[in-house]
Amino acid sequence: MKLIVTGGAGFIGSAFVRMTVSSGLASVVNLDKLTYAGNLANLAPIDSSPLYRFAHGDICDAEFVANLIAEVQPDAIVHFAAESHVDRSILSPAPVFETNLRGTFTLLEAARQLKVPRFVHVSTDEVYGSIDEPHDADEDYPLRTASPYSASKAGSDLLALSYYTTYKMPVVVTRASNNYGPYQFPEKLIPLMISNALAGRRLPVYGDGQQVRDWLYVEDHCRAIQSVLAKGREGQIYNIGGSCALPNLEVVKRIIKATGQDESLIEWVKDRPGHDRRYAITSDKVSRETGWEPQMDFEAGLQYTIDWYKTNQAWMDAVRSGEYQDYYRKNYAGRAGGAASE
Ligand code: NAD
Ligand code: TYD
Repeated sequence: MKLIVTGGAGFIGSAFVRMTVSSGLASVVNLDKLTYAGNLANLAPIDSSPLYRFAHGDICDAEFVANLIAEVQPDAIVHFAAESHVDRSILSPAPVFETNLRGTFTLLEAARQLKVPRFVHVSTDEVYGSIDEPHDADEDYPLRTASPYSASKAGSDLLALSYYTTYKMPVVVTRASNNYGPYQFPEKLIPLMISNALAGRRLPVYGDGQQVRDWLYVEDHCRAIQSVLAKGREGQIYNIGGSCALPNLEVVKRIIKATGQDESLIEWVKDRPGHDRRYAITSDKVSRETGWEPQMDFEAGLQYTIDWYKTNQAWMDAVRSGEYQDYYRKNYAGRAGGAASE
């Protein structure tokens, strides 16, 4: 099988490419723009494989996308590329709508014209917005987005599904919960807290820290996408959750304990505007139809992730330099409690 994977230099896309290429499941052409989040070092374990090739480009570039699809003739496109971070989408929404909406549209349109046999659109549980207890969202739950990021993802999901309804294009949409694991850019909660804790820096907790997220180990997510790629029904949506709902403060405390740090590192900072309180989904459909279940226990996955960051200090030093420092200052400066410098 031949795949075009978009965003394969990012956190989840690179895990998917590493798993897919190293198992020999498919050959992969990785189409990635290499934004701040794209890092070819994430592909080092497989980048000399004859099953792997990198194509540097932008999913918004219609000509580039069409030429690549025409040349590769893929059996499927697995679409990860996105601006993926809520805080950045609040600070700077324009690139989020450009890539997540126009980029997805550009890919869908090229895939339709060139009759790509399968299109997996990778999305998020954030499209359901904050969910009151005791409910968990299934795939029919209403969309209620709060951030520019989640609004752009909901829009791209609807676009993808419209291509199935209107053109009978073989599209499948996945909606996963919060991922964690090695190679995650340290702007998201878990890698940011690990990276700061390992360096003895303050740990900025938004609001009261009681917001709930459902944690999914990245390789479990990638196995689910492989299952949906193989067995998912066209025009369908599949939720993919980790069955591990925890308040943020609990996650931070576990990281503090596992890194041998002290809770005095916690810094209470001003809440994120429009902050969703609780994400919760059921993954019954993907389990029933494909047999997938999450395998990684959170305690073990978190420890493995912390150990990975400890032994990959050079990776962390490289991604924390330059642009990251500017972003960190912009996002955390001025938040009451003052986590302005890392
Ligand atoms: P990431 O930010 O780590 O990586 C995104 C990748 O997309 C980068 O390699 C970047 O260079 C590339 N990219 C960005 N704009 C591009 C463009 N215009 N053209 C080509 N490439 C471009 O993201 P991630 O955390 O790996 O998330 C991947 C996908 O999974 C996203 O669609 C995201 O919405 C979805 N998702 C993420 C999570 C999570 O917890 N991180 C959870 C559920 C769903
Ligand atoms: P994040 O990793 O940005 O993912 P998302 O917003 O997509 O769920 O944030 C996860 C949770 O952690 C969210 O409730 C916001 C919170 N958070 C903090 O408390 N402090 C931080 O520095 C960050 C980045 C996130």
